[in-house]
Amino acid sequence: MDQMFRQWVLSKPLEGPLEPDHFQLREVPLPDPGPGQALVRVLLVNIHSATRKRMVAGGTKVGATDPTNFACGVVVKSRDPAFQEGDVIHCQAGWQEYQLVSSDDAAIGYPPVNELVKATNGTNSPFLYVFRPALVRMWSPSVLMDVLSTSGLTAYFGLRECGPLMPSDHVAVAGTSGSVGSMAAQLAKIAGARVMGFAGGEERCRWVVDTLGIDGCVDYKADDLDAELQARFPQGIDFFSDGVGGRVSEAALKLVKPNGRMFSYGSASALYGEGSGTGGPAPSIRHMMGITDEVEQKLRQRNIKAEAWMVIDFYHERMRAEDDLSRLMFTGRLKPITNLVEGFDKLPGAIADLYRKRRSGKLQVQFGTL
Ligand SMILES: NC(=O)c1ccc[n+]([C@@H]2O[C@H](COP(=O)([O-])OP(=O)(O)OC[C@H]3O[C@@H](n4cnc5c(N)ncnc54)[C@H](OP(=O)(O)O)[C@@H]3O)[C@@H](O)[C@H]2O)c1
Repeated sequence: MDQMFRQWVLSKPLEGPLEPDHFQLREVPLPDPGPGQALVRVLLVNIHSATRKRMVAGGTKVGATDPTNFACGVVVKSRDPAFQEGDVIHCQAGWQEYQLVSSDDAAIGYPPVNELVKATNGTNSPFLYVFRPALVRMWSPSVLMDVLSTSGLTAYFGLRECGPLMPSDHVAVAGTSGSVGSMAAQLAKIAGARVMGFAGGEERCRWVVDTLGIDGCVDYKADDLDAELQARFPQGIDFFSDGVGGRVSEAALKLVKPNGRMFSYGSASALYGEGSGTGGPAPSIRHMMGITDEVEQKLRQRNIKAEAWMVIDFYHERMRAEDDLSRLMFTGRLKPITNLVEGFDKLPGAIADLYRKRRSGKLQVQFGTL
């Protein structure tokens, strides 16, 4: 086994645009797992859109890696009874080739979870568990970490909790080219609803319709977004899936019908906009997802049911979701939409590009294979 491994760290404070030279390569000694620990060879890390925000806000320190990424790895040495050598696991990992994990540790950067999730995973973290071998045989690490991880599961539980969707429902899905939105749009279409997406520009809109097979797409950069939306939803919106916030949310919310439903799971517009990360912490999870007091009042006036939560609250049911989503992929009805960059050396460029180039689906950097 290698005696040293590679790790990317933040090289300097982030003030302007994120550039590849904000990352510095280090070689660090390979640790031996202590009692209750396992050593994992990291195969792939998901790059979260909040990566830059964490750097700006000081969550990721200069000279340190970001330990909060969701990652897929294979256990190479274990002194933790929860893991066997050879297990392929979901974990959190730095931008690095190896990671120590422990089933005793809570998630890094996320609130504690309930007992049912801990019992399901056999660990104290919602993000630390062994993938079932049947799933590992069927799906690549990229698919395991996208459709069968937080993105696919957020879409799955979001539609279920705000459902059931009816074929008569008119559904609006913000962030349709994104990792959660691309799943939500496809699942709403599978449920038989009429589905309209949102994307930035004509080309992106074409991609969304052609790739996801939905009914249409609104260019959220249009000058008169209200008029555009009114034309696309003459009868109003029954269900609005929102992971972006900002201008799109404001415009779409005006058209959600009385007794309609809204699923707010994130605020991508704030994460991609310039100056992201400068705001303080939100007072509640609903605020964090864009449901401010003003929005709350509008929801009450029209009796709109609005859900906002972290997907990990449902992780005691994740195996059922993994099976349902697997079945849909296996029968070709649900397409994984991922954006895979291969090579450890490509990580800084890939993260910098996340904020300056258009892409679709979850950005993932793969640097190992099974
Ligand atoms: N609650 C939970 O448990 C949970 C789980 C997963 C994710 N999240 C959150 O959900 C949000 C989205 O996550 P994701 O992984 O799906 O994001 P993503 O893959 O990064 O996609 C975001 C999408 O947002 C669109 N977008 C960017 N700026 C926009 C703007 N100003 N107005 C409208 N659309 C804009 C982009 O579309 P174009 O390229 O067409 O511009 C992009 O496709 C994040 O805030 C994330 O933290 C929450």
